[in-house]
Amino acid sequence: MTERHRTALEAVTAAIHAAPDAQHAMEQTVQLLAKHLPDYTWTGIYLLDGNELCLGPFVGKPSPHTRIPVGRGICGAAVAEKATIVVDDVNADPRYLACSIETQSEIVVPIMSNGTVLGELDIDSDRRAAFTGDDRALLEQVAALLAPKLASRQG
Ligand code: SME
Repeated sequence: MTERHRTALEAVTAAIHAAPDAQHAMEQTVQLLAKHLPDYTWTGIYLLDGNELCLGPFVGKPSPHTRIPVGRGICGAAVAEKATIVVDDVNADPRYLACSIETQSEIVVPIMSNGTVLGELDIDSDRRAAFTGDDRALLEQVAALLAPKLASRQG
């Protein structure tokens, strides 16, 4: 991982551990990722609500996609596949639901607990092929840290 990614992971890890509840943990996560990683033009979390993804905290321009059915878009595909999806060129992917005309690439990482999807991290970049193996590693670790917070968010 690059120094930048390591620094982001340390900051997010500390913030999640210190967060009093899931909402604060999610807000801190998107803010710190956006702050430390300049390529992250839009950084958000969707929460699974029945068969739909519901937009939670985000940093970036407002998205028209506040609710996305499972199976639709890259976001819905990641839930259906229970796997990270990296799209180097969103304009070449027929699944892509446009949020901003400037977006070129996207990564979506499911947040899972005991094999159940609770939500996902969704990051867009204005740079083509912006997301590397370092981003995937970072975001999959962040998703694993968030999972227990989201799993206990009823209380
Ligand atoms: N691009 C996503 C939709 C969400 S916006 O990027 C915020 C998708 O294709 O599912």
